[in-house]
Amino acid sequence: MEKFIVDGPTRLKGDVTIAGAKNVALKAIVASLLTDEEVILENVPQIRDVHVMLEVVEHLGKHSVFEKSRVVIRKNSSCACTVPLEVGARLRTSSMVLGPLLTRYGKAIIPNPGGCRIGARPIDRHIEGLKKMGASITYDSTDGYFHAQTKKLEGAEITFEKNTHTGTETLLLAGILAQGKTILRNVAEEVEVDDLIRFLQHMGANIKRSGVREMIIEGIPKLHGATYTIMPDRNEEVTFAIAAVASLGDITIHNSQRHYLTAFLNALTKAGGGYEEIDRTTTRYFYKDHLHAVDVVTAPYPGFMTDWQAPWALLMTQAKGESVVHETVFENRFTYVEELKKMGAHIAYVDPEVKNPKTFYNFNWKDRPFGTHQAIRIMGPTNLHNAVVTINDLRAGATLLLATIIGSGKSYLYGIEQIDRGYEHVEKRFTALGAHIVRVKEDAVS
Ligand code: EPZ
Repeated sequence: MEKFIVDGPTRLKGDVTIAGAKNVALKAIVASLLTDEEVILENVPQIRDVHVMLEVVEHLGKHSVFEKSRVVIRKNSSCACTVPLEVGARLRTSSMVLGPLLTRYGKAIIPNPGGCRIGARPIDRHIEGLKKMGASITYDSTDGYFHAQTKKLEGAEITFEKNTHTGTETLLLAGILAQGKTILRNVAEEVEVDDLIRFLQHMGANIKRSGVREMIIEGIPKLHGATYTIMPDRNEEVTFAIAAVASLGDITIHNSQRHYLTAFLNALTKAGGGYEEIDRTTTRYFYKDHLHAVDVVTAPYPGFMTDWQAPWALLMTQAKGESVVHETVFENRFTYVEELKKMGAHIAYVDPEVKNPKTFYNFNWKDRPFGTHQAIRIMGPTNLHNAVVTINDLRAGATLLLATIIGSGKSYLYGIEQIDRGYEHVEKRFTALGAHIVRVKEDAVS
């Protein structure tokens, strides 16, 4: 286990190239299970979750080579159709193999998914959909595995009760080789889903978005291999953009995707943060003048993404006035708040008036642990100071790293493996922007 030692404050300046999107790369690796032919993925980020997902598919009969940002996946052996607990439970997305395994082999045994500690993160919506396609799926609490089987997945009409990003993708993957047509309604609109669809179409899949939040998949007998370049990571861009403004700095981002960040850019502009369109894929983000407090309410795409909520809260600690950050997608996504308060942030938990929380919130209301809050009120600006902080989830990790960069003094970050899950060469890239970060063994005395 390792920790970061960070000396702040630093104004971050320079250039960053955004890496490939974690939330596409992981699913494209799952999609490789739909064919025995070679699949080549370019622009894959060198992050821990990708290595874990490659381990998952290697347990399912694949062989993979991951060099620089290219992954080559080939068939290696027959499919055991079982994901071992110690591998699958480390990565929520491993549950998505249900679709491909059922549609190709008629069986799958997967552990109850894990992932970030940002809530219960059940897969009931995935399972309901697969059952409608003819799968029988039972959860055996004695061994902690889902046991799934089917004679042949049949196309079906499925309406998701609430938005689910990976639920949409699981059913999409299940429909491609199923018997007949599948119509999915109330599907996720995240652009990462569209990038997965483009990859699957390169493999020969017959998929189209047929209307608002609706998708039609025509089942076909076989998919062929393909080569595909993954889109850049929107969450990385927002993280570095906020880093520029919060640190009073100036960062030019390459592989930028402004057109997919409208909700963020609107909030940033309202808060007084600066950005300049250099060209179609290059954006300069910079500190302009005193920041103003701006409220945000997270929502599925095209709303203000839940993955941007934590870094936004950090930015609001530097803004003048009171801002409320209302999290509507996950039921426990404020794990970073107590850590920011250790650094001097003034943050209180609040519970906004919501007419019908059961339908308003994207998570299942019954999953909400007693006493959790769905919103925070931030009073700013505050000068953050050093602390010893612990990271609990990926985006909280990036947020706390930013906080120690802009805070004054020497800070210690524990749990940095959470950051390695989703940010490629994180300390190298922030150091190149001027940050003072050292990665050492957790028990190193310094
Ligand atoms: C995906 O998570 C992303 N992860 C998340 O990014 C992202 O925050 C989220 O979508 C929203 O865009 C990946 O793509 C690997 P959901 P996912 O299914 O699919 C509940 C990051 O930092 N729900 O849209 O898990 C669920 O618990 C990660 O990169 C059910 O109750 O999100 C959550 O509260 C974090 N039952 C809400 O719905 C289900 O069957 C939204 O979940 C499915 C979901």
